[in-house]
Amino acid sequence: MKVTLYRKAHFNAAHRLFVKGWSDKKNFEKFGKCSSANFHGHNYELIVGVTGEINPLTGMVIDLKYLKEIIKNEVEDILDHKNLNLDIDHFKKVVPSVENICIFIWNILRSKIENEKSLEVTLYETPRNFVKYTGDLK
Ligand code: NI
Repeated sequence: MKVTLYRKAHFNAAHRLFVKGWSDKKNFEKFGKCSSANFHGHNYELIVGVTGEINPLTGMVIDLKYLKEIIKNEVEDILDHKNLNLDIDHFKKVVPSVENICIFIWNILRSKIENEKSLEVTLYETPRNFVKYTGDLK
């Protein structure tokens, strides 16, 4: 029987959504206030879900302490209070949209969780705007 275990986390980060080759006007038309040249912040809410069989000995799908640690060390410590465009190499080439940040986080965590377990990452940029990525969308 497979069960999904969830862990919530949180970080604050600044970003600017823009396409380098476009004028400020065109960027504003596409990205609105998120294209403002001087950046702006969001309070990101992260929900990480790990699905797998329950270990009959421990009763766990994944060690929650380990999950908490990798989210803290590999995601929060990397992204919290950062300017995503300037501080994170990946987002020097890729627009730091909530979609792309969600996939970035999924890729980091995927490499730290056993292959037989499924991973889903949900990222809220605002209370109403969020993305979910499970890695199997082609
Ligand atoms: Ni924004």
